[in-house]
Amino acid sequence: MSGINYSEKIPNNVNLANDRTLQRALEHWQPHFLQWWRDMGPSDFQAADVYLRTAVSVDAQGWAHYGATQMPDYRWGIFLADPVKDRTIGFGDQMGKPVWQQVPGEYRSTLRRLIVTQGDTEPASVEQQRLLGHTCPSLYDLRNLFQINVEEGRHLWAMVYLLHAYFGRDGREEAEELLQRHSGDSDKPRILTTFNEPISDWLSLFCFTYFTDRDGKYQLKSLAESGFDPLSRTCRFMLTEEAHHMFVGETGIGRVVKRTLEVMKEIGSDDPAKVRAHGAVDLPLLQKYLNFWCSSSLDLFGNEISSNSAANFANGLKGRPDEDQYQDHVLREQQFKLETPEGAQEVPMLNALNEVMRESYLKDCEIGLKRWNRVIERAGHAIRLSLPSPRFRRTIGVWLGKSVDPLGRSVSREAYERNLHDWIPSDSDRAFVHSLMQKVTEPGKIAGWVAPPDRGINNLPVEYEYVKLH
Ligand SMILES: [Fe+2]
Ligand SMILES: [Fe+2]
Repeated sequence: MSGINYSEKIPNNVNLANDRTLQRALEHWQPHFLQWWRDMGPSDFQAADVYLRTAVSVDAQGWAHYGATQMPDYRWGIFLADPVKDRTIGFGDQMGKPVWQQVPGEYRSTLRRLIVTQGDTEPASVEQQRLLGHTCPSLYDLRNLFQINVEEGRHLWAMVYLLHAYFGRDGREEAEELLQRHSGDSDKPRILTTFNEPISDWLSLFCFTYFTDRDGKYQLKSLAESGFDPLSRTCRFMLTEEAHHMFVGETGIGRVVKRTLEVMKEIGSDDPAKVRAHGAVDLPLLQKYLNFWCSSSLDLFGNEISSNSAANFANGLKGRPDEDQYQDHVLREQQFKLETPEGAQEVPMLNALNEVMRESYLKDCEIGLKRWNRVIERAGHAIRLSLPSPRFRRTIGVWLGKSVDPLGRSVSREAYERNLHDWIPSDSDRAFVHSLMQKVTEPGKIAGWVAPPDRGINNLPVEYEYVKLH
């Protein structure tokens, strides 16, 4: 079951050949996807040989094959994790009943919406990142960018498969629209705001893969709990690929910290202006990028109080990440204490699940912060990086539009406006970061604002020619 069939036009492990109608529908969509990839995917590097991994099995052990591939030849396909025998619904009012292999009629539009919303983020991020290749700090980094891009393309395939296989004509229409909306497009933008933010520098890319791909991890984990079994299996395999994206973010920011500390040592100063003059990202500037991308990603969890997420949970459509870790899987009796601008408020736990998810996400985000701060501490500096308060800069929920500083304290509107450029990157901060973004493509060489990685990919040396440009 685990093996993936690569002899067909669309690689898959779902026996696509046995369902000719579905196969034909997906083969009809495939050239549209490839056209989208050429138009909206990485600009200018389609002829480069990239050292990419491709899934060959859905087993956690040895699931990927590595080799030089031109991106348009990447074998995008449909890979579902193996079914769990006799799996039952693990939460909500239908807990313990067998999972569904078909979409229950009453949940059809909700499930379609969940799948489309997830699916929309995948090509969106490829679009957001399409120009970054021109300013890559090294071939190692360039390869990682392209690896992420092709896998986000694969995640689009994962969602499109579900739409085609289980949602009939509506599903096919949605699949077409996933290629028609574009990140930042004024007429047809992507569904979620964060996925319309431009990513025009590599510091933003590292923050995006640290914070926003991690939101993806949490969304996929909660969908992997779903009672709709094909969705669960699809998301379980996507999580295997997703881990690398967050690795790029965590090690990327870690390498920026490392390089900045080296520069601070060389020049014997932590003065931000001097650090910048030596071509590195001063730590207060990095903090602003963390504030921006963390707060932007926190919005993706939605309203603190949500009857939709309550219904999705009660109906067994979308669980909590790692549902197993909890005692109570029904939540009809529990309350949640929510901090609002008007004070603490008790709300039914079922209605507060977005907030529950946001809290566990933030805990996961803390892990990298601790690691980077240890390095800063060991270098003898007092400054510490931190996550902004979840109340800061919210564009959704009870803290929407409130003047709150990154520490979570209410401030006057005037003070908020005046200080915002000290909390998130100002135009001149962004211009400085852009000035650092010089393309480095000599094997083994690296830009001056970021330290080299500790090791290469798949046991190859760091100086390996991970992208062969022609
Ligand atoms: Fe993804
Ligand atoms: Fe991702």
